[in-house]
Amino acid sequence: DTPLRDLGAAKGKVIGTAVTGSRLTGTYGDLAGAQFSSLTPGNAMKWGSVEPVRNSFDWAEADQIVAFAQAHGQQVRGHTLVWHSQNPSWLTNGSWTSAQLGTLLQNHIATEAGRYKGKIAAWDVVNEPFNEDGTYRSTLWYDGLGADYIANALTWARAADPAAKLYVNDYNVEGVNAKSTALYNLVRSLKERGVPIDGVGLQAHLVVGQVPSTLQQNIQRFADLGVDVAITELDARMTLPSDSAELAQQKADYKAVTAACAAVARCVNLTVWGFTDSDSWVESTFPGQGAATPYDANYAPKPAYYGIAEALGGT
Ligand code: G3I
Repeated sequence: DTPLRDLGAAKGKVIGTAVTGSRLTGTYGDLAGAQFSSLTPGNAMKWGSVEPVRNSFDWAEADQIVAFAQAHGQQVRGHTLVWHSQNPSWLTNGSWTSAQLGTLLQNHIATEAGRYKGKIAAWDVVNEPFNEDGTYRSTLWYDGLGADYIANALTWARAADPAAKLYVNDYNVEGVNAKSTALYNLVRSLKERGVPIDGVGLQAHLVVGQVPSTLQQNIQRFADLGVDVAITELDARMTLPSDSAELAQQKADYKAVTAACAAVARCVNLTVWGFTDSDSWVESTFPGQGAATPYDANYAPKPAYYGIAEALGGT
């Protein structure tokens, strides 16, 4: 079979996967290197990973993933600079004034995006800022700094790494709905204000059989706004044990998502959130569900793998 990265390249699409650094050897490393043209560290670049103790940094896994990507001719998607989750406890347990919080965030972005300057194709600068109804999520950042934390984070990220494409990333924004419309309005307003914003990430943590019918239309409206779109965290979970009907539906779902991205020129990257069922967040978060990725736990390609390939013109 032609590797997904080559099929994607022929269509102008970067095909990525989230990875765990410690697993990048053996079959896992071989597949990650051969099949994908972009890597996203699944956890290694989150604030809690890189600065577990204040002013004491651990870049080992992030550096390892960046080096692996460079050795394999791959892009890196940085994930993520500003989030409400997986922050270090010294940060979340501290009591900070608004001014202190702003300085902490600015320094964090300067430090991390600065460390990888020139090596990151795109940063998920802000992750998951919205509630389902399109209001801003109450977080450390929103509560302490107001909605302008988003514009400021983007501005600081641009200063730290001018070549990186800067994204806002969220889930349940794949179809046209209240949450994706809030993201749309945010991007429009940022662009009107001259704030650097290059793209939106649609995570696409899906349930088998539930690809939104408005996915392509939604991708297109962001493209028409003048930003790139990436499918950043694609997976499609099913009730376990998986059966052939679920696996067939999952293939159709992966194919539909890939086809929607392929149909819009500004949809530049399609990334799966783990390529093997042995390296997925789903089973621990949704007991009784899983099998959400394109390869099974023994690294055999599932029908979903061929769904991606077929949508990219492969077999
Ligand atoms: O590192 C510790 C390890 O030392 C410990 O032994 C083990 C025991 O549970 O936990 C390990 O940490 C886990 C970490 O993943 C690394 O495996 C955390 O408990 C676990 O909560 C964490 O889950 C991550 C999750 O984000 C946290 O919200 C998933 O791996 C990661 O795939 C997931 O990714 C998020 C994206 O960043 C944003 N969008 C949603 C997506 C899925 O939740």
